[in-house]
Amino acid sequence: MASSTPPASENPTSTLRYIRYDSAHEDAYVAAMRQLISKDLSEPYSIYVYRYFLYQWGDLCFLAMDTDPTTGEEQMVGVVVSKLEPHRHGPMRGYIAMLAVQEEYRGKGIATKLVRMAIDAMEKGGADEIALETEITNTGAMKLYERLGFLRSKRLHRYYLNGNSAYRLVLYLKEGVGLMRTSFDPYAPPPDHAHDHLPPAPVPPAAPLLGENGA
Ligand SMILES: CC(C)(COP(=O)(O)OP(=O)(O)OC[C@H]1O[C@@H](n2cnc3c(N)ncnc32)[C@H](O)[C@@H]1OP(=O)(O)O)[C@@H](O)C(=O)NCCC(=O)NCCS
Repeated sequence: MASSTPPASENPTSTLRYIRYDSAHEDAYVAAMRQLISKDLSEPYSIYVYRYFLYQWGDLCFLAMDTDPTTGEEQMVGVVVSKLEPHRHGPMRGYIAMLAVQEEYRGKGIATKLVRMAIDAMEKGGADEIALETEITNTGAMKLYERLGFLRSKRLHRYYLNGNSAYRLVLYLKEGVGLMRTSFDPYAPPPDHAHDHLPPAPVPPAAPLLGENGA
């Protein structure tokens, strides 16, 4: 039987480490992320797209870093960017927005590890389900996600600017989530359970106490 190389994430001699995004290093991290992600995109995202995700959900972004043995310098070799919010007054939906691994590092389990870290963090944050879109021609990504339990929920015709179609993939984390009703009428009153994710209503100020003389 052929021996298989352990994934880099499990190799004790590996200098790879996995970290959560840290806004203290925003400039360096965002520059490296943009470089890594834009290599594989037909339309690179603007800086505002990165800020949208990182300012609100930086805790759902994970990075794979590796140290160059000669220079000792650390470089970003993988990234996953996600968000988590209620979906159309329905389930808490995690969303994987970006995933990329540097070409020379592919096939070592890095993306799988990053996606698992993001799923765990979203689950801890109360996610009922996790969704994402991927090009129907991206067999690598499709295999990776389907192996992690994602199911094809929709085919989105000409979803990308380059005219390519996408699959929406969904991972259900709780039983019955796929059957949950969602509402998208902006004028409809929210269903009762939507309040679960809203801050408590402000308490009106107490009426001033009147003294005996009415003052
Ligand atoms: C997709 C991508 C993130 C995978 O990264 P990776 O670190 O190589 O993934 P992993 O090593 O964790 O692979 C997990 C599984 O995915 C599948 N896979 C990954 N890349 C593949 C490829 N190029 N062809 C076929 N299958 C592939 C394999 O089934 C692999 O399992 P295996 O160990 O049995 O071979 C990487 O190829 C990439 O950055 N691509 C460009 C950006 C992109 O497409 N992002 C996804 C957008 S949704």
